[in-house]
Amino acid sequence: MRRVNAVLSGLGNIGSRFIGVLDRKRDVLRDKYDLDVCLVAAADVEGGAVAPDGLDLARVAGLRGTSIGTLGRPGLTILDILREVDADIFFEATPVNLKTGEPGLSAIRAALGRGMHVVTTNKGPLALAYGELRALARASSVQLRHSGAVLGGLPTVNIGQRDLAGATILRVEAQVNLANSYILHQMARGMSYFDAVRSAQEQGCCDKDEALDVEGWDAVIKLVILANSVLGMDAHLDDVQREGIAHLRAEAVLDVRASGRVLKYVAEAAYQENGRYDLRCGLRALPPDHPLAALGPLQMGVVYTSDLYGTISAAIREEEPTPSASSMLRDLLTIYG
Ligand SMILES: NC(=O)c1ccc[n+]([C@@H]2O[C@H](COP(=O)([O-])OP(=O)(O)OC[C@H]3O[C@@H](n4cnc5c(N)ncnc54)[C@H](OP(=O)(O)O)[C@@H]3O)[C@@H](O)[C@H]2O)c1
Repeated sequence: MRRVNAVLSGLGNIGSRFIGVLDRKRDVLRDKYDLDVCLVAAADVEGGAVAPDGLDLARVAGLRGTSIGTLGRPGLTILDILREVDADIFFEATPVNLKTGEPGLSAIRAALGRGMHVVTTNKGPLALAYGELRALARASSVQLRHSGAVLGGLPTVNIGQRDLAGATILRVEAQVNLANSYILHQMARGMSYFDAVRSAQEQGCCDKDEALDVEGWDAVIKLVILANSVLGMDAHLDDVQREGIAHLRAEAVLDVRASGRVLKYVAEAAYQENGRYDLRCGLRALPPDHPLAALGPLQMGVVYTSDLYGTISAAIREEEPTPSASSMLRDLLTIYG
């Protein structure tokens, strides 16, 4: 049996569910993969707990809003833990901060520096410092995995990194933002922009402050992560041509519908003769037989076109965060499977 000592930062929707999944899949991990994953430390914003023989996974998964510090030490931070505890892998699931990348960025740097593999669902550190983190991981001979950071449970990054082996990716097109696709869907059915935004907020697929979505930033962030981790670029947020949908006129949407096309918000990377990619996030009027045109408003999807494998498309409808949380198990098994 291979024992893997794990540390986790962040016990919200993703972190708690991931621990629940680890608990549920304990037998599968043992029988099929010969793995015994031991959670030797975890922290949230209020405190942390360390247990060299492993924390009780069911108890940690069931904390539901009570700080993990109640099982250990209030005030113990993830950076304290990463300094003190010897572990093999660090799971990072704290909130996105697109200005500083914190608290995830410092924690990921610390874990990689101590020779731990890192798995994260947090877009902030990846969007701001992917090149640096990848170099750190290589220097420490460990892996940086983030298959849940772009499109959650859909293995978008893995398809591009692994399954298109040897190919030149000619185009990536993706429906990455639920809020924008839901808003466009409602507008194509005659709603005004403002009513459609309100409806998306009621549906829970759009933040109270819709700016990040409707101005296109959420899509830009995801495209930059894909560009860097799949297309081998060193792209930054301002390398992406960005068009938002704020204040879109209802007539513009209805005109596209009348023409028999489907208006979608698409994040897109297009291969150029010089070997680089043009990156763009914006509206596209797609023909009805385009794989993204068929996606429902609450689906996310990606279409890869490459020189060897033709056109491959994949889609997901993720109604709650278990698929995203399970991406951390997928990444663990990519590393140890
Ligand atoms: N939810 C999804 O469907 C989904 C899908 C894909 C990717 N993601 C990404 O995954 C990450 C986690 O998402 P989530 O939905 O689980 O967020 P969440 O529910 O807000 O949970 C975040 C967790 O991080 C903790 N935290 C905050 N600051 C911390 C710090 N300094 N040190 C340690 N822990 C800290 C929070 O503690 P407190 O609760 O005590 O504040 C909370 O436990 C985010 O980056 C998100 O964008 C989420």
